[in-house]
Amino acid sequence: MSIVLGIESSCDETAAALVTDGRVILAQRIASQDEAHRPYGGVVPEIAARAHAERIAPLIEATLADAGMTLDQVDAIAATAGPGLIGGVMVGLVTAKALAMATDKPLIAVNHLEGHALSPRLADASLEYPYLLLLVSGGHCQILLVEGVGRFRRIGTTIDDALGEAFDKSAKVLGLGYPGGPALERLALQGDARKVPLPRPLKGSEEPHFSFAGLKSAVLRAKQSGEYADADIAASFQQAAIDCLIDRTRRALAKAGPVNALVVAGGVAANKAIRGALETLAEAHSLPFIAPPLALCTDNAAMIAWAGVERFERGQSDPLDVAARPRWPLDPEAETVRGAGVKA
Ligand code: KG4
Ligand code: ZN
Repeated sequence: MSIVLGIESSCDETAAALVTDGRVILAQRIASQDEAHRPYGGVVPEIAARAHAERIAPLIEATLADAGMTLDQVDAIAATAGPGLIGGVMVGLVTAKALAMATDKPLIAVNHLEGHALSPRLADASLEYPYLLLLVSGGHCQILLVEGVGRFRRIGTTIDDALGEAFDKSAKVLGLGYPGGPALERLALQGDARKVPLPRPLKGSEEPHFSFAGLKSAVLRAKQSGEYADADIAASFQQAAIDCLIDRTRRALAKAGPVNALVVAGGVAANKAIRGALETLAEAHSLPFIAPPLALCTDNAAMIAWAGVERFERGQSDPLDVAARPRWPLDPEAETVRGAGVKA
């Protein structure tokens, strides 16, 4: 049996986990920084980096203690090496390097996106490559064909905002606080999705890309008009987002060729209405629909440890001078998509 220690620090979650090649999560801890960033309505990189630096060593100690283990019993040390807020990434990666050096264990530099992309295989042993992955979170919004470890084809991406970002910004417009995705979903339950006419950007277009900036602006205009109830705006926004997501994913399924499953990962996968719509789409294509448990969907270290396991099993590791990377696309061949700030 091999055991990998995983470390995650690329955004506002400091996390550590111990995962076996038998898909057992022996222990995992997550320290969220929501409170520290809430006054600013978004993640402040400098505050995040400092918080990671304060918490990471005790967090790793506590995770080892939870599993009743010492570092000697760990076979490899995996850490997120990007993409993400560089100050935080450096804290986690340098910690992993120090532990690898002190214990003479292999270091595995994990792409955070690969962590998300492979996490469904930690949850579900039956999931075989290739599968179509919808990766939707606050920072990511992509459709990927996952062909194997380190083998990804990006089928679609956002040309402006990520889906979680659109949820968060719309929630802010509605005064729901930060991070607003879950609160917006709750409010939408009380609203009528037919009440507010909102656009479906890029729906029906040939390439399965996304755009949410126009939708977000339309939410702002609807709120400012004073004509609609907040719950109706929330419900209408969520329905518009789902319509775009389903249309784009259907297009991506047609482009990707044969796959074994439709998989969703990333924080937005916590949204029940989105899960339900994707499940229906998968059924229509006679594909299994796989959504990892919520704790694996949002940022966590078990997914980093698992990506480490998959790489370790294939004999892969990285040198101690491996760099932290603020940008690190999973599919370097993918074309840059026309549009404003294209996300990693
Ligand atoms: O994966 P994650 O924890 O962090 C990254 O962004 O990488 O995802 C967090 C994002 C936030 O934008 C949050 O608002 C969104 O996922 N989110 C949701 C829901 N739960 C979390 N969006 C819509 N509905 C939800 N229930
Ligand atoms: Zn993430």
